[in-house]
Amino acid sequence: MKASAPGKIILFGEHAVVYSRPALAVPVTQVHVDVEVVDSPRKGIWIHAPVIDLHAELTTLPSDHPVASVILKLFQFFDISQTPDLKIDISSTIPVAAGLGSGAAVSVALVRALAPHVAYPLTNRQVNELVYEIEKLHHGTPSGIDNTVITYNMPVYFIKGQPIETFKTGKPFTVVVGDTGVPALTIESVGDVRRLWLRDTNHFENIFNEIAQISLIARRSIESGKPELLGELMDHNHALLQEMTVSSPELDKLVTAAKDAGALGAKLSGGGRGGNMIALVEQARAESVASVLISAGAKRTIITEIG
Ligand code: PMV
Repeated sequence: MKASAPGKIILFGEHAVVYSRPALAVPVTQVHVDVEVVDSPRKGIWIHAPVIDLHAELTTLPSDHPVASVILKLFQFFDISQTPDLKIDISSTIPVAAGLGSGAAVSVALVRALAPHVAYPLTNRQVNELVYEIEKLHHGTPSGIDNTVITYNMPVYFIKGQPIETFKTGKPFTVVVGDTGVPALTIESVGDVRRLWLRDTNHFENIFNEIAQISLIARRSIESGKPELLGELMDHNHALLQEMTVSSPELDKLVTAAKDAGALGAKLSGGGRGGNMIALVEQARAESVASVLISAGAKRTIITEIG
């Protein structure tokens, strides 16, 4: 059984989304995780994930290992105690720890490939709930945005704990993703924001409210076919993320470079401190903005058309 899952970017609202403000995220299908599960003559469940240099039998891995925990959770879900002999191949083109949702994508693809092999296919809702449980194991207090956009593979307007809202794009638009190459753990930036929020709650609540407004206006602009309005909103959202201390010199450098190269707006995307930034561009300028980002230090770029 084979399954795959896309990467994702957060367009607006990261961090504020942890505090129940709305955020917008879209799938990035140019990068993906692919999983294949087959019966094996070899005893045990053998997992091969060359991108993370993993070649191991399930029982030799700690139960909280990112891959093992998905398999164990699924067996628990189906109440399977006699585990079958399997070979699981995981390949991925999603950069790790870069804000592109690689962890959630591995979990989604693995659940989708493994569930029908050992029992029956799960609905999107079931996949989403299961993967959210896994995300909580690894990320502390995730909002659930990653698992949702990756499971449904559609643009989502996400509010923590509320039923999923997908939305349509009135007119397609182009985003260049630039990777600083600096690995950054979301759990750390989320923890730092929490400490700052506890210290200066009013100020941070005001920032989150401003971001909520940005997400709301952004959604309307996208749906009504005026994506060019997103540029200014991105700049504003980035300034608020800087104020929250989750940007970094590398991210700011790429954001400035993109703007100087003619991007309509730019911001960090995801947990921050490293990982990716995104820039809204006119389609004809995408390649040139991407090459300017590389000259400014980006380790890789992805040009993605949304809608
Ligand atoms: O770093 P990423 O792309 O997984 O995104 C994290 C988004 C945050 O809002 C910072 C955290 C969350 O759980 O929503």
